[in-house]
Amino acid sequence: MKRIGILTSGGDAPGMNAAIRAITRKAIYNGMEVYGINYGFAGLVAGDIRRLEIADVGDKIQRGGTFLYSARYPEFASEEGQLKGMEQLNKFGIEGLVVIGGDGSYHGALALTRLGYPTVGIPGTIDNDIPGTDFTIGFDTATNTILDSLDRIRDTATSHVRTFIIEVMGRDAGDIALWAGVAGGADEIIIPEHDFDMDKVAKRIQEGRDRGKKHCLIVVAEGVMGGNEFAEKLKEYGDFHTRVSIPGHVARGGSPSARDRVLASKFGGFAVELLQEGKGGRCVGIVDNEVVSSDIVDTLENGKHQPDLSLYDLNQELSF
Ligand code: F6P
Repeated sequence: MKRIGILTSGGDAPGMNAAIRAITRKAIYNGMEVYGINYGFAGLVAGDIRRLEIADVGDKIQRGGTFLYSARYPEFASEEGQLKGMEQLNKFGIEGLVVIGGDGSYHGALALTRLGYPTVGIPGTIDNDIPGTDFTIGFDTATNTILDSLDRIRDTATSHVRTFIIEVMGRDAGDIALWAGVAGGADEIIIPEHDFDMDKVAKRIQEGRDRGKKHCLIVVAEGVMGGNEFAEKLKEYGDFHTRVSIPGHVARGGSPSARDRVLASKFGGFAVELLQEGKGGRCVGIVDNEVVSSDIVDTLENGKHQPDLSLYDLNQELSF
C-alpha cells in the first residue's frame, strides 16, 4: 500500500493529534504517502483532503483537540454517503484509511469495510466506551481533568460544609466517573452500569455529617441523569447544603497526558503496520497492556465494553 488517509471523527479527544502524528511519521518513514481528511466523514464526502508532510505534524503532539478537525456526520450511515466517500478515496488514490474516533466513527469504518475498502479503526474518545480495548485515547486526560475539578471542589465543599454533585461526561459509560471518583476520594459514584438507592446515598451523607465530615462529593455520570436532576431528587431526603457543578466539555480539551500520548503513538504506529501488511477491517486496542487488533465487524457486533466494576465496590468500602 502506497498511499493512506487519516480522519478524526465524532467528539474530539486529547491525544488525537499525537495519533495523527504517529501515523504520518511512521508511514512516511516507511515510504508511504499520507493524506489528511478534514472534518471526519463530512470532509471525506466533500473531498476536503490534503497531503500531509513530516512538518505538518510537527509541534502537534502536545496539543489537545484535532488539527484535522472533527464532525458528527450521521449522513454517512446512508449508502449514498458511503459511495461518495469511496469516490473521493479513489479520486485521490488513497488505498487505505485510518479512522480515529468513537462509536459513531467506528460504524463509518465498518461501512467502508463492508464495501471492501481497507480501513483500520483507532479508539479515540474520552468516554472509554469502545469494545476491543481496555483504554481509548483521551480517557486518561479527561479523567485527570475531572480529578483536578474534584480536588478543587473538595476545598470549597469543606470550607462551607457542603455536598457537591459533579456531573461528568461519558455518554452511556461510567468510566470517567468511576476512575476520577476513586482517584478523587468521592463519597458516591453514580454510574449507568450499577444501580443505586437514593435512600442509602442520603443515609451515607448523613452518617458522614454525624461523624463530623465536612465535605461530600458525589460524582454522577451523565448517562444516569443530570446533576441538577440528581440534586432535586436528593433534596427529597434531606437538606445537605447541596451545590451542583458540571465541568462539561472542559473534560474534552487540554494537553494530552503522557499516557494518552504514548497510547496514541502506539496505536498510530500499529495501524500503519496493519495497512502496510494489507490488513483492513481491523480495529486496534490495548488489552492487558498489549497492543492488539481485532476484526471490526465482530468487535462491533459482538463486543461489549464494561467498566472495571471492582472499582465501584472498592469505593463503597473506602468512602463510607
Ligand atoms: O463522546 C464524547 C462526548 O463528550 C460525550 O461524553 C458527551 O456525551 C458528548 O460527546 C457530547 O457531545 P457534543 O460535543 O456533540 O455535545
